[in-house]
Amino acid sequence: MSRRNALLIGGLGTVGIAAGSAGLWWTFSSRFSPVAGGEFTEPDELRSSSGRLQVRLEASPGLVELGGQRASTLGYNGRVPGPTLHVRAGDVLAIELVNSMAVPTNLHVHGLHVSPQGNGDNVFNVVEPGQSFSYEYRLPVDHPPGVYWYHPHHHGMVAEQIFAGLFGMIIVEDTDPPATSRERIMVISDITLDGSGTVSDASPMDRMLGREGELVLVNGQSNPKLSARPGERERWRIVNTCVARYLRLRLDGQQMQLLGMDSGRYPTPGNADELLLAPGNRADVLVTAVAGDATLRAVYYNRGSMAGMMGPAGPASNGGQGTGDIVLATLSVSGAPAASPPPVPTLPAPADLRTAVVAAHRQLTLAAPGGMGMGMGMMSFTINGREFNASRTDTTVAAQTVEEWTLVNPSPMDHPFHLHVWPMQVIEDRGGQTPGPPLWRDVVNIPANGQVKVRINFKDFTGRSVYHCHILDHEDQGMMGVIEVR
Ligand code: C2O
Ligand code: CU
Ligand code: CU
Repeated sequence: MSRRNALLIGGLGTVGIAAGSAGLWWTFSSRFSPVAGGEFTEPDELRSSSGRLQVRLEASPGLVELGGQRASTLGYNGRVPGPTLHVRAGDVLAIELVNSMAVPTNLHVHGLHVSPQGNGDNVFNVVEPGQSFSYEYRLPVDHPPGVYWYHPHHHGMVAEQIFAGLFGMIIVEDTDPPATSRERIMVISDITLDGSGTVSDASPMDRMLGREGELVLVNGQSNPKLSARPGERERWRIVNTCVARYLRLRLDGQQMQLLGMDSGRYPTPGNADELLLAPGNRADVLVTAVAGDATLRAVYYNRGSMAGMMGPAGPASNGGQGTGDIVLATLSVSGAPAASPPPVPTLPAPADLRTAVVAAHRQLTLAAPGGMGMGMGMMSFTINGREFNASRTDTTVAAQTVEEWTLVNPSPMDHPFHLHVWPMQVIEDRGGQTPGPPLWRDVVNIPANGQVKVRINFKDFTGRSVYHCHILDHEDQGMMGVIEVR
């Protein structure tokens, strides 16, 4: 517990604690107070037909409903989250981005394996205020199914724009989906609002550690209520859109199975008691309902701090709920038991690069202020000692080759490493070879003072794109590099 929270609790006695973890912060702050416990709702859904989905996304400031109250945020088409886009492998996703904000923006389709060139997933493109731009993403016919998302990527403003409400989910449908009673979309975000419902600015400390919002929402709602019958199997599609908050999710008393994370599916789902989603990660989960009430909770995860700074970079240091659990949603299971669902079809194993021929080995070192070997005057966020520069290419890769990257983190806090366009297979984690089925990720957490090895197959797409820390305050301050595949 941080000193600040300890003081607050000391001053308030047990009143705040008795309110439970979800209500704790609000007891202290008398600021924006969300209305919790509404009926679970989902973002609007748009689906492709005949191989195409055409969408207009207008990014604008406005009044939206958040946590059951009116808030003044950013949103796509006036909502937070933006619409969920359902597509299939082989589809064309065409998005007209309209910028009705006073600042530049652009669009990135996080995790999609599509071209980074031209009007594809090109983050070097800038859409100025009052302008619009037509993006076109062509998904290959063998695009892996799974949960993806979209968000702005204009350098220097990414954290701010996502924190204020610009994000939405993309689903690439399976060809062979498991039978389920229903599918639920869960876009998890965090935000800090003042008493008038306006998004709070990040302090210099927030930017250093990565801002964590005081309010953690599911589809813009505070602790919504879900219901199911015993034995029903649901599919939950979860994305962590938080700028810096890690989500260590538990659903005690229920049965969770992980179908996949980030990109693609595992050949068979594995049981999971807990899911750790770093910023940007997604989970594709089966929940088999067991009679009773259960809460979806985010339990404390220690992502480290910075040397010489007080308190952990967890929620406590940002004035949030400290190390207590955050209740995200409540599931009530009652009624007549449902017939047990058929087994989940087994899928062919995904590609495995553990035995591939490696054309190049690289090391990328992610450095933050306060890390080992950093001088006192060095206050920058870098990869291999350099801050992001859009006109410099840091890494040049030969197309159609497999590379092995060692991602090194000498700093005292975790950094979630993200590569655009090309998914990474985790090869070595915690000092040993990764066992079991291939783990394909597009955000890989590099623990404080740790390292992870990944392999990447630079097949099919060429062009310039980026890799960066998905603590978006770090990205905005320079922890990003340019890759060119040619
Ligand atoms: Cu979700 Cu470049 O990021
Ligand atoms: Cu991305
Ligand atoms: Cu970072």
